[in-house]
Amino acid sequence: MSSDAGPGTITIEQVSAADTYALRAQELRQGRPPEMDGDDAPYALHLAARLDGGEIVGVVRFHPRDCPWRAGEGSWQLRGMATDPRVRGLGAGRALVAEGLIRVAARGGDLVWCDAREAAVGFYQRIGFSIVTEQYDLRPVGPHRGMLIELPIR
Ligand SMILES: CC(C)(COP(=O)(O)OP(=O)(O)OC[C@H]1O[C@@H](n2cnc3c(N)ncnc32)[C@H](O)[C@@H]1OP(=O)(O)O)[C@@H](O)C(=O)NCCC(=O)NCCS
Repeated sequence: MSSDAGPGTITIEQVSAADTYALRAQELRQGRPPEMDGDDAPYALHLAARLDGGEIVGVVRFHPRDCPWRAGEGSWQLRGMATDPRVRGLGAGRALVAEGLIRVAARGGDLVWCDAREAAVGFYQRIGFSIVTEQYDLRPVGPHRGMLIELPIR
């Protein structure tokens, strides 16, 4: 993408865990391996945003995991969320999460939660998540807040 070409078309699709590693490494996992526990678990759902059908410019993972702040089954964790700085603010992050919520609901999930980095709390609020905790420290990244969104029951 050249800087004066303007934004291209962004599409969301399911990918393998390995397809998400380059962007994870670049934007989230500096100095740590890009793999995360559970990446290859059968229910792990990896999504990518592709620019004009090619380059991956956004990634996210959803997988079933009890919510630390809400009892009940049907909870999924959102992790490994990142977009390329060149496309930020253009809706790729929103599109990734929206697609994930649809797919999680289709698999019977009724809640999605995340440890939101303090700098990303405004993003998650903007797309419908609520803050449910005080700030807490998750090393080595730093301050986070617990956030979640409830999904309509089918
Ligand atoms: C957080 C992040 C994923 C947002 O991705 P993005 O592609 O810019 O998101 P979108 O363009 O879809 O933004 C959706 C809306 O949220 C807003 N928004 C985006 N990032 C925001 C932020 N950090 N704070 C407040 N609002 C934000 C956008 O302006 C947009 O608002 P609109 O509804 O008025 O259009 C991206 O900035 C990123 O990868 N950051 C670094 C890695 C990171 O912190 N990941 C999250 C770990 S928990």
